[in-house]
Amino acid sequence: MKHNMYDHLGGSQLEQLVTAFYNRVSQHPELKTIFPDDLTETARKQTQFLTQFLGGPPLYSEEHGHPMLRARHLPFEITPRRATAWLACMEEAMDEVELEKELKEHLLTRLTFTAHHMVNTGDREE
Ligand code: HEM
Repeated sequence: MKHNMYDHLGGSQLEQLVTAFYNRVSQHPELKTIFPDDLTETARKQTQFLTQFLGGPPLYSEEHGHPMLRARHLPFEITPRRATAWLACMEEAMDEVELEKELKEHLLTRLTFTAHHMVNTGDREE
């Protein structure tokens, strides 16, 4: 293993991952309604965030300040179902870009924790 996950993954595979992820988000019935139609800026911020989350340079904080991710998600209804959907899109994107198994498992474990932390409301009754 290299020094940190960001070095191991590399910037270009990370960009591919983020692109594959938002392609799925934009088509997901549970998710597309809360995201902007144009995901260019969202993807750019997510790439910055994941770069620092994985131990690379603090690109997100340099431009936007402290991530305060839970607070930044409060304007959106993040339900348990949406957290599950977000993670499913991420796992499929990881498979699409053929993320190495060890990296996939490690990153998915950390993101699962973060995604559940973002939940700020219950699922609606059907
Ligand atoms: C922004 C949804 C989990 C990182 C956003 C936005 C939405 C959203 C709707 C605003 C997009 C925009 O206006 O551009 C969700 C949902 C989640 C989730 C439904 C399910 C749990 C996560 C997780 C992370 C994350 C786990 C961490 C990897 C971010 C970042 C931004 C963002 C970095 C940009 C914040 C900014 O505006 O600076 N998310 N998110 N999100 N999300 Fe999530």
